Parts: sequence; C-alpha cells; structure tokens
Amino acid sequence: MNRVQVTPRSYPTNLIDKDWGNRKLFYTKDSENFLRLVHDMKLRDDDVWIVTLPKCGTTWMQELLWLLLNNCDFEGALAKDQELRTPFLEFGYSVFHDPNRSFGPIEDLKSPRLIKSHLSLALLPSKLWEGKNKVIYVSRNPLDSYVSRYYHGVSFGFNYGKSLHQYFDEVLASDDFPTEFIEHAHEFYQLRNEPWVFYTSFEMMKKDLRGVINDVSRFLNKPINDQQMEKLLKHLSFAEMKKNPTTNHLWELAQVQHENAGKEMHPFVRRGDVNGYKDELKPEQIEKANVRIQEVLAKNGVTLDELLLLKDHSEVNNSERGEQIKQGQAV
Ligand code: A3P
Repeated sequence: MNRVQVTPRSYPTNLIDKDWGNRKLFYTKDSENFLRLVHDMKLRDDDVWIVTLPKCGTTWMQELLWLLLNNCDFEGALAKDQELRTPFLEFGYSVFHDPNRSFGPIEDLKSPRLIKSHLSLALLPSKLWEGKNKVIYVSRNPLDSYVSRYYHGVSFGFNYGKSLHQYFDEVLASDDFPTEFIEHAHEFYQLRNEPWVFYTSFEMMKKDLRGVINDVSRFLNKPINDQQMEKLLKHLSFAEMKKNPTTNHLWELAQVQHENAGKEMHPFVRRGDVNGYKDELKPEQIEKANVRIQEVLAKNGVTLDELLLLKDHSEVNNSERGEQIKQGQAV
C-alpha cells in the first residue's frame, strides 16, 4: 500500500496540548477526499467507537462491546459476521476506493452503532473530539502487534511468500517505526481520565478479563448479572473465539481482492499470547526494535509499562522513567 504523509483539516487542540504541526500522519495516497469526509462525519449521540492499532485485540474487545450494547444477545452475535454487526470505518474504502462503501454500512446501521477505526486521534471525526461519544481504546505491545500483523497479511495476501523475518526487517527499515504506534496509543493514554474515554490494553484483558468486563459495563452504563458475566467469559475465551466463524474475519477475507488472499491461511484468532514475539522474531531484531521503541517512548515521556497499563502513571516517577527507558526494561 502506498502510504503518504497527510495533513488533517484541523487538530484536536482542545484535548491535547502538543506541537500538532509536527505530528506526522500517514494514510494511503490520494485519500484526501475520504479523510475530509471522515473529519466531517456526522455522528449520532449514542454512537460508540472502538479505536485501536491493527492486531491489538480489537475483535476481542469489539465482541464484548457489541454484546454489552445488545443486551448480551449471544444468539445474535453467533448468527452474523462481526464486521456486519459493527463495521470497520476504513475497510470499504481501502478495498474498493469508494467512500460510499465505508460510510454506507455505517449509515444503514440501527442505533446504538458500534464503529471500529484504526485512525489516530487527529484523523478521526472531529465531532468525537467534543467528548459526547464514548470511545474505547485498546493498546498492545508493538512487537506482538507486528508479528500478528505479519500473519494477518499472509492470510489476506499482502505478505504471501514473505517470511516473518523478512517482513520484520522491512518494518525496522521504515522511517516511522515505531513513532506512529507509540503516538497513536500515547494520545489516547493522555485522554484516559476523560469520562468519555475507556483506555485499556490487550495485556490487561489477558490478565483480568473479568475485571475489564466489569469496568467496561460500568463505563457504558450496561450492567450485567452473574449469569451474563459467566456467559461472556466463555464466549470471549480464546478457545471459543478461535472456533467462532463470526469473529475470524471470514467476511472481510471474502471481500479482499488481493490475488494471493487465502493462499496460505493463518487463523485470525491465532495465538493470543502476551510477549509471543520473543519466540518468533530473531534476538537481534528484537534488540534493534527495542532501541527504537525506547527512543520514541522517551521523546513522548512515557514508558511501555504505562501504555500497556502494567504500571500506573503514579507508580513511575520521572527518574525511574528515565532509568527504565535507558535500560529498555519496559519491553
Ligand atoms: P495474535 O495474532 O497474536 O494471536 P485484532 O482483532 O486487533 O486484529 O487483534 C488480533 C489479535 O487478537 C490476534 O493476536 C488474536 O489471536 C488476538 N485475539 C483475538 N481474540 C482473542 C481472545 N479471545 N483471547 C486472546 N487473544 C485474542
């Protein structure tokens, strides 16, 4: 995909005080019109958004959110592909280069709509910056996310014929690794105490799914009883989601027009581990990546433990943060 630097029509200056002019944002070439339509997108008051970077546990959280917003309708969830119940804003445009293929399915959806996007804060609809809609953000260790992206790309055709190590060398050679990843998460991390934002991580969901379900149900004001909690825990378990055809993005795969799509398949719900990258990437690749990650974290004044909610902001003092960044302990 041909990615170029893009400039949004305006920035969320009311939310985060930073040098937005120097925030490099990238999107597919010739997408100005689509990005303008997204920027100006009309929202309904009860729209809920799930915002993530790819392969950070979006589908997992999205399934939970859809169920909470739909009175725990497990039968309904199993009867329809997730992408049709809760659309991915950029998908239709990215496959068919037609904005209507993105906005149409969202406009047709009955309320409350649950909308997925991988766009960063500054590229999302400016209406969201008013803080009237609820937004759920999920972060994940960048290296686990990149490994997961590789396998997804093999199944969808983009990485077919390429080894994981070749793919990751290309990631390391790109100028913006891992700036976009860190800044995308850090911007939402900075908003984590806003009443309209719920910020969590894949790592937290692995550690305490019950706790995350309780927190999200309170955030959405959608209480659940004990029986629903047990059913949610089962439905959202790795084993159940792995065998659930509606949560493995088969609908999306059928839309993708890449000539190599489907030639080598890796299940969408694939491994689901924290730190799985450690036995998939080469040690020298991990070392190089960590140096770059620590540099960008330091520039942003945050640690990976903070972004992944493994440590609370108040638990990390400035000198510790400096030390941690120097020694690369956060990864
Ligand atoms: P892996 O490829 O590392 O296994 P996304 O939905 O954002 O694309 O994220 C996909 C990642 O979430 C995949 O990671 C997938 O296996 C993992 N995942 C999905 N459902 C999960 C679950 N119930 N438990 C643990 N991991 C899950």
